[in-house]
Amino acid sequence: MVVKNIAVLFSGSGSNLQAILEKVHGKIFKGIKINVALLICNNPDAKGIERAKKFGLDTVVINHKDYASREEFDKAVVDEINKYSIDLTILAGFMRILTPIFTDNIKAINLHPSILPLFKGAHAITDSYHSDMQIGGVSVHWVSSELDAGEIIAQKTFARKTKTLQEWEKKIHKIEHKLLPKTIIKILTKDKNA
Ligand code: GAR
Repeated sequence: MVVKNIAVLFSGSGSNLQAILEKVHGKIFKGIKINVALLICNNPDAKGIERAKKFGLDTVVINHKDYASREEFDKAVVDEINKYSIDLTILAGFMRILTPIFTDNIKAINLHPSILPLFKGAHAITDSYHSDMQIGGVSVHWVSSELDAGEIIAQKTFARKTKTLQEWEKKIHKIEHKLLPKTIIKILTKDKNA
């Protein structure tokens, strides 16, 4: 059986990591088994670390505060990923701006809580909520050297209606928990080079 290994990078709550562990990890799609082989987190207090433990998985903590520059942090992350035979790296709420040390060396996708190219950056949920856009959404894109600007792979939108910020955020996460696992499966079962 063909096994494809993924690495998941996260920084906080890890609800998307949990969705990947529930819907993708250890499962077989079109004869291909997808395995979460590596978890990396830059925040030692992230709730996602506990979530992963419930699935029997340890997380490698690489604290960005221990590194003098973004490049040195990125090198540590890249070196860790390269220890394993990783087919695809997933940024699931990984709240770090990445340098070419990472983007030139790692094949990765990123989850972003807006309809890109709108509302790039770390505050996409509140920025999109406070805009006059009548739709919100979620994007998954290839990671490139430019922040939140790589080629878009998947998007899903929803109508604003009369949602509070809390409802807006909840709706985004609900979509993310389906769209990210679906996109991972699609890439790994379609792209022969993945
Ligand atoms: C998600 O909404 C994800 O789209 C966002 O962080 C959240 C992580 O939630 N990512 C970004 O904003 C990246 N710029 P989670 O830790 O519960 O998966």
